[in-house]
Amino acid sequence: MTISNVLAVNRLLLRPYLAHARCVIDATVGNGHDSAFVLHHAPHLQYLFCCDIQAQAMESSQRKLAAIDTPAQIYRYEMNHAYVLEDFPLAVDVILFNLGYLPGGSHALHTRTEDTLRACTAGLQALRRGGVLSVVSYPGTAAGAEEDRALHAWAQALPQQKWHVARVRMPNQIHQPPCLLFIERR
Ligand SMILES: C[S@@+](CC[C@H](N)C(=O)[O-])C[C@H]1O[C@@H](n2cnc3c(N)ncnc32)[C@H](O)[C@@H]1O
Repeated sequence: MTISNVLAVNRLLLRPYLAHARCVIDATVGNGHDSAFVLHHAPHLQYLFCCDIQAQAMESSQRKLAAIDTPAQIYRYEMNHAYVLEDFPLAVDVILFNLGYLPGGSHALHTRTEDTLRACTAGLQALRRGGVLSVVSYPGTAAGAEEDRALHAWAQALPQQKWHVARVRMPNQIHQPPCLLFIERR
């Protein structure tokens, strides 16, 4: 167990939710590392929905996930997560966003603030009671800093009666380290 960075903290926080999760959405599947973590830690998982706008990410994540033995059904959407999440038909246990650009891919294909806010807003509506939405943001680039600020403002405005909201930062790390936003439906 370690809290060496927010990705590690995110995984620590996610584990108890994944332990009984049946439906999970990875809104930014990228190379599939987060989805693989889900498959390894969600023994009751029935559905995993994976989204990304890039064919390169869909192929890379498919290769990674194909190596994992799981009874869960995996659905892939090569499209904007905002469209996938709007009016999502199932109650979802866990929704993951890991923002920014695809490691090893084009830096120009960064997540966009407008789509991220739209998708997170829709994602909250899809969560079942006790479900969580987790967002890792990367304020180290101009686009990432704008997205992180907008997410923070958005999360601050969520009514306390409905949502538990936690924000994790690593204040002694250099170079604008990533931040975590963790939101639980009460
Ligand atoms: C930091 S990577 C995700 C890392 C990934 N979760 C993993 O474990 O490898 C961010 C991903 O978000 C994707 N992305 C950007 N905008 C998107 C959008 N509107 N909808 C879905 N995916 C998007 C990028 O193509 C990129 O693959």
